Amino acid sequence: MRISVFGIGYVGVVSCGCLAELGHEVVGVDVSPAKIAMLRSGRSPIVEEAIDTLIAGAVQQGRLTATGDVAAAVHGTEVSFISVGTPSAADGSVALGYVEGVIKQIGAAIRSKTGAHTVVMRSTVPPGTAEDRIIPLLEDASGRRLGDGVSYYSNPEFLREGSSVRDFRAPPFTLIGAPAGDDAAILREIYAAIDAPVHVAPIRVAESVKHISNVFHAVKLTFANEVGAILAAHGVDAREALRLLCEDRVLNISPAYLRPGFAFGGSCLPKDVRSFLSLADQKNLSAPMLKNLLPANTAIIDRTFQAVARHGRQPVALFGLAFKQGTDDLRESPFVLLAEKLLGKGYDLRIYDRFVQVATLMGSNRAYIDQEIPHLERLMVVSPEAALSGTKVAVIGHVAPEDRPALMAALKDHTVIDLAGIADLRAHPGITYEGLCW
Ligand SMILES: NC(=O)c1ccc[n+]([C@@H]2O[C@H](COP(=O)([O-])OP(=O)(O)OC[C@H]3O[C@@H](n4cnc5c(N)ncnc54)[C@H](O)[C@@H]3O)[C@@H](O)[C@H]2O)c1
Repeated sequence: MRISVFGIGYVGVVSCGCLAELGHEVVGVDVSPAKIAMLRSGRSPIVEEAIDTLIAGAVQQGRLTATGDVAAAVHGTEVSFISVGTPSAADGSVALGYVEGVIKQIGAAIRSKTGAHTVVMRSTVPPGTAEDRIIPLLEDASGRRLGDGVSYYSNPEFLREGSSVRDFRAPPFTLIGAPAGDDAAILREIYAAIDAPVHVAPIRVAESVKHISNVFHAVKLTFANEVGAILAAHGVDAREALRLLCEDRVLNISPAYLRPGFAFGGSCLPKDVRSFLSLADQKNLSAPMLKNLLPANTAIIDRTFQAVARHGRQPVALFGLAFKQGTDDLRESPFVLLAEKLLGKGYDLRIYDRFVQVATLMGSNRAYIDQEIPHLERLMVVSPEAALSGTKVAVIGHVAPEDRPALMAALKDHTVIDLAGIADLRAHPGITYEGLCW
């Protein structure tokens, strides 16, 4: 494949060298004459492990060159990779000036090209950028419609500076954002020699995965630093504690707890977050991220309440009261807090939870009900049908598998606010479906 790489900074130079190594014919394009001259002469404009020999070898073998001539680069290649910078604007949003500038130039060059051309966005851009800004700009500049002589894919780059050549050669996966029904054959072909799974997703999803990956890394680093400081202040070998935490690949380093859903609760998480924060307070340590966990959790309950309130003061059916499905534990259940909030605001509420049978509750659960929502017994109903009868809004916290058929059958023209992410609900005919965090 003949590929032009626009922007020969960190991502672009590594792409140039590695794509040439895969056997492609590559031309690097930049606005900097100095970078063009360096690359042309077989020298890397960036400092990176293994990059010097990679670039020198590719140029020597005639598989890599560089130019400032956009039209020549577009006319002489089938695919253009874009890896120009996307720095922060003054207000914190991303500045898309370089990306838009390069799209206009590539589009104008496509206009005077006879064959088809493919544009691949490797720069990090926020979700929606392609559909809202880039594709219309590309269509405008090229005079072609997407799929009719011009194609566009999002293909975020996940390499890390310092190990970027290794990361390019062995990525965790290849992620391609493609228009619906397009399996991105051209990109699959370009990466055919890379041994990594290929995921094709809607463009907005692909754009967002790169974005949230970096946010996630920032969350992990800050978590490690904040808990590390607190543990160290209490005489704990924090590196050893975190090393062992990572040994748990079932609950800790895993997809567990990483699905958008509802607030956390129960007898452990809120209590243990509070007690860990008190360890920080004892040593006068600031831990801004950890200290915002409980307020952030409360905000999710408030968001759910607002989602219900948007539909007016209608009778509400709440499915699920225990903090999660399959238990009768009501301690610090976020569903109890939600129920309390709805009650406090005067909503007519029916609650159904197969595992919370009021008559048989005792001990701490009984005490919790008496303290938090003493009117619970009056609100609890015994079946999904009874919960939904006379209501227009259903909040689905959790539903036992045995209750799903009855729930589905009893839903008619309800507005369903799904806190559990139940796939069947979304497809249910006749209802108005709302996810909370999706
Ligand atoms: N640096 C990383 O580790 C890394 C990793 C993954 C993704 N990214 C993302 O990749 C993108 C590029 O990052 P980078 O660090 O390589 O940027 P960089 O600043 O090192 O390089 C950008 C290059 O684009 C060139 N450029 C600007 N306008 C141009 C135009 N119209 N035509 C041709 N070239 C032009 C600049 O001269 C510069 O050489 C960013 O969106 C970044 O967020 C970076």
